Amino acid sequence: MAEQRITYSEYLHLHQILALQDGGTASGREITHDEMHFIIVHQSFELWFKLIINELTTAKSILSKEQVPESDIPIVVHHFRRTIEILKLMQSQWRVMETLSPQGFLAFRDDLGTASGFESFQMRHLEIILGLDKKNRPGGMDPLAHFKKLASESEDGEKAWQQLLKVSSEDTLVDVLTSWLARTPINGSVPSDEGDEEVVSTFIGSHLESMAKHDADSLARHISLGTPNIEKVEEGFSNSQQAAADFLIPEGSISRHRAGLLFIESYRELPLLAWPRALIDCIVELEQQLLLFRHHHARMVERMIGRRVGTGGSSGVDYLDMTTKPRIFTDLWEVRTLLVKRSGISDVENPDFYGFA
Ligand code: HEM
Repeated sequence: MAEQRITYSEYLHLHQILALQDGGTASGREITHDEMHFIIVHQSFELWFKLIINELTTAKSILSKEQVPESDIPIVVHHFRRTIEILKLMQSQWRVMETLSPQGFLAFRDDLGTASGFESFQMRHLEIILGLDKKNRPGGMDPLAHFKKLASESEDGEKAWQQLLKVSSEDTLVDVLTSWLARTPINGSVPSDEGDEEVVSTFIGSHLESMAKHDADSLARHISLGTPNIEKVEEGFSNSQQAAADFLIPEGSISRHRAGLLFIESYRELPLLAWPRALIDCIVELEQQLLLFRHHHARMVERMIGRRVGTGGSSGVDYLDMTTKPRIFTDLWEVRTLLVKRSGISDVENPDFYGFA
């Protein structure tokens, strides 16, 4: 029997995809060329969101293993790197959106009714996978409550709601990363080792001392150069030392995952920690690109509609700017404040454990 041919169009469902640019109008409303542009830009973003969700879900499932084999870390890094490139590409897509003029948009904006990117369930899905905390959502906006409402209004609304409920019940990337970091060998010691707490505590104490010494040297430099308001500078150093201690020893007990993170970031030369370091760098870059994506969106919106209220009912640009403030991987950002130059911290104990001959 002759082999069944599958065509390019069949494989990609091209005819179906290319027939979906009608603005959801059963009424057969005419779509202008500007509105066709608006729809296609949105649809391509949503396709990229789908791929990002897929990449992050896979990365998360690998990282959530009780013991992540070292050979799996490059695979996780690969998924994050692809996500970063997609986010970068999406940022340049705003330039394409900006070829729509404010008047060109106003011509069909009313036809959107209350439809808004605020209702992008895929954007919410990816925020939830990453671990964006509900309390960090700005402006009292609660997208999940909105999706719950939409669930009662249509079958597709119910589907989106179920998708969000499911991902909300799972561990986030922040959760799995935290557990993984907690297992970092610190000066050759892992959590299951006898005396591990002592080793971690000594490492933290020594790091805080290095910080204090570095700050004392900087303060002395300010004093000798006659910096005005020296009390304020001194207070700044003292506050950051207190913040560092609170970060590493919150409520009086050692945070092993933060100590692990500090160890990985401090000793960047250790061969065994090369891939964990790459993974952390990727997550920081991923969040940075997501923030830039939000920022570019807000600037594009400001150019398009000024300061008017959004179709979704938010304060528009002000609301979008607020979404650029919260951080998801808060520890990964905060640890940067604690770092001390390599020559200012003590040498690693058990260097051969980390692959140094
Ligand atoms: C003319 C183009 C656009 C304008 C004027 C615009 C405007 C806005 C406004 C004002 C909001 C705030 C919510 C509201 O009150 O509606 C918003 C949210 C949003 N928009 Fe756009 N947008 C545009 C294009 C896009 C595109 C192409 C995407 C790609 C998917 C997108 C994705 C989003 C997302 C995900 C949100 C939710 C942000 C959040 O709550 O974190 N927007 N948009």
